[in-house]
Amino acid sequence: TLQSFGVIGLAVMGENIALNVERNGFPIAVYNRSREKTDAFMAQRAPGRNVKAAFTLEEFVASLERPRKILVMVQAGKPVDAVIAQLKPLLSEGDIIIDGGNSWFEDTERRTKELEPDGFRFIGMGVSGGEEGALNGPSLMPGGTESSYEYLSPIFTKIAAQVDDGPCVTYVGPGGAGHYVKMVHNGIEYGDMQLIAEAYDLLKNAAGLDPSQLHEVFAEWNTTDELNSFLIEITANIFPYIDPDTNLPLVDLIVDAAGQKGTGRWTVQTALELGVAIPTITAAVNARIMSSIKDERVAASKILTGPTGKYDGQTKDFINMVRDALYCSKICSYAQGMALLSTASKAYNFNLNLGEMARIWKGGCIIRAGFLNKIKKAFDENPALPNLLLAPEFKQTILDRQGAWREVLATAAKLGIPVPAFSASLDYFDSYRRDRLPQNLTQAQRDYFGAHTYLRTDKPGTFHTEWVPIAETK
Ligand code: 6PG
Repeated sequence: TLQSFGVIGLAVMGENIALNVERNGFPIAVYNRSREKTDAFMAQRAPGRNVKAAFTLEEFVASLERPRKILVMVQAGKPVDAVIAQLKPLLSEGDIIIDGGNSWFEDTERRTKELEPDGFRFIGMGVSGGEEGALNGPSLMPGGTESSYEYLSPIFTKIAAQVDDGPCVTYVGPGGAGHYVKMVHNGIEYGDMQLIAEAYDLLKNAAGLDPSQLHEVFAEWNTTDELNSFLIEITANIFPYIDPDTNLPLVDLIVDAAGQKGTGRWTVQTALELGVAIPTITAAVNARIMSSIKDERVAASKILTGPTGKYDGQTKDFINMVRDALYCSKICSYAQGMALLSTASKAYNFNLNLGEMARIWKGGCIIRAGFLNKIKKAFDENPALPNLLLAPEFKQTILDRQGAWREVLATAAKLGIPVPAFSASLDYFDSYRRDRLPQNLTQAQRDYFGAHTYLRTDKPGTFHTEWVPIAETK
């Protein structure tokens, strides 16, 4: 008998998705470039399950029912092209290749154009949730030709995370839409992580909380309707973790230099290209970059001095203010991410349903949170919402709490604690709500030095002035 679903690439994500598919009643075939991985998988994880191991791609392809459904879980970039090139001659018309890696969406569009004219089907699918999600229910963001997705939806709706309003998967849109949405998910993930890091820095260094107090604060925040989320939950779990070798909190022993694999940077790059401001997410990427020049910072710390000290009010009040600042900043960050999706949807004809994107992020993925329900609701109520900040609930939240948010930023500035994502969020809010920004001056300068022309507030038309120093006009 033939297997229903094939997985190529048995790194941990591939293995776990394969097992998830099998557990949900679909016999699987697996293939890995190096045989040892396949042997280990068969020996350790496959016993008692309906898994066929293949040791050549020919054998793998021959073991699958048609149209073949093949999920490729290899490193993004050249390895994906290499696997496709090897597979292509072995496939039949109508067979479906699914790329489940963090691929650049333009690569996905190119691969679609390379495969579809020859009668093959290609789906670029974002997969979020890490190892645990892959095994027990990830959030899936499949994009490509909709008719191809129909062959996969019976499987994907079963293996995806299940939340109150359904499985965390939907057909996202054509071409590279799935990978685009996954990339923006990751950009938002960077924003969330940086905002949490800044809250931690303030609580630790301005309020002087120790790891056990930090645990309590984050655990408490995780019970709130607003902040309840996977990232706050794991943050709470990290603080009390004691390193067995030293008996010290492990978090304090970890080098403060963050890595990044590129999806956050891509989000910023595409936003710049589309002309969408995503300052919070940009600040998060920059913060990782600043953190990574550790040696330079250590040297600078001995030369460049600044204020020190602690918050001088009530700790309890400060904790609540930081919570408010975190939540307001988070709203701004998601407003930016959704605005980016909205513009990209028009620019690339993705035809995204933003409420649905928020819905499929409610479970399974790294940014899963109760908060996404509110975002879904906001877009369901008004699919043409220009910005999340204008949704009644978010608007009210920010109006109620901006005092605390501003106080936290003022405190951070006074104490010399960098809060790039908190500040970028407040700047976003303050810029978005201003009817008049100072770029009238920018326009005057551009016209002055380059005759770039300007518009006027009081009459129609395009204007240029022969600007001269005031002395010369006299
Ligand atoms: C997820 C994650 C996952 C991964 C990324 C981001 O949604 O499951 O986003 O895709 O963690 O690689 O990682 P970096 O921080 O290394 O860029």
